[in-house]
Amino acid sequence: MFLFEPVYRPQPPVLAGDSIYLRPPLLADYRAWSTLREMSRAFLEPWEPLWGDNALSRGSFRGRISRVVREWNGDLGYSFHIFATGRDNLPRDTLLGGVNLNNVRRLSAQSCNLGYWMGEPYAGLGLMRAALELLLPFAFATPDDDRPGLGLHRIDAACIPGNDRSRRLLRRCGFHEIGLAPSYLKINGTWRDHICHQLLAEDFARFGTPENSSVTRWHG
Ligand SMILES: CC(C)(COP(=O)(O)OP(=O)(O)OC[C@H]1O[C@@H](n2cnc3c(N)ncnc32)[C@H](O)[C@@H]1OP(=O)(O)O)[C@@H](O)C(=O)NCCC(=O)NCCS
Repeated sequence: MFLFEPVYRPQPPVLAGDSIYLRPPLLADYRAWSTLREMSRAFLEPWEPLWGDNALSRGSFRGRISRVVREWNGDLGYSFHIFATGRDNLPRDTLLGGVNLNNVRRLSAQSCNLGYWMGEPYAGLGLMRAALELLLPFAFATPDDDRPGLGLHRIDAACIPGNDRSRRLLRRCGFHEIGLAPSYLKINGTWRDHICHQLLAEDFARFGTPENSSVTRWHG
């Protein structure tokens, strides 16, 4: 049992669409998160950094949440969990996966690295695409009083050449391939080449924000 939920500052948004909504991870997500990650283990492990022995423990989740909150509050990274809205035959508030804007760099870069995972039962349903359609407008929007946004200029994303789903997802969302980076990330214990992609704010502008989406302040 966790006693205290973390405090995200400034207050993060809830990014909501038709089928899914995104909000930052909470300690209370642990049971759903560990159950989904465990049942998706064989599906996720080939594409992720090595899962340690304690990858799914409560302690490691607590450490992860501490890091996520530090990053949010320090403008260093923005993590979200993805949940069902209750339409599309998925019970409301079912945890589906996660999506992260990591390594935010300000000053002359204004960029970050995109990461994502989907629970195996929910993969291939178009839900990560829906998640990116909510996240990208938030990442690129210039913040004002009514609408939160990160004001980023570039989002980098990389995937292993054989990861067809991930490549297709990025292409669908407007990312351009910029080249092969040898031994770019250590994935499942091995340094792997990656295809680097990027999406620039000016290229994204023409996609716009999906209909029926909303951004509200989170009062979690
Ligand atoms: C990659 C991942 C996050 C994509 O999420 P998803 O919810 O499955 O993606 P979507 O359903 O939104 O589909 C994205 C695209 O992949 C396509 N796709 C779905 N299943 C596919 C498959 N088995 N092979 C190739 N393409 C596939 C979809 O058709 C869609 O393309 P389209 O819009 O042109 O039709 C998810 O599959 C996943 O977690 N995979 C394992 C871990 C992983 O690869 N992490 C990312 C490392 S870079």
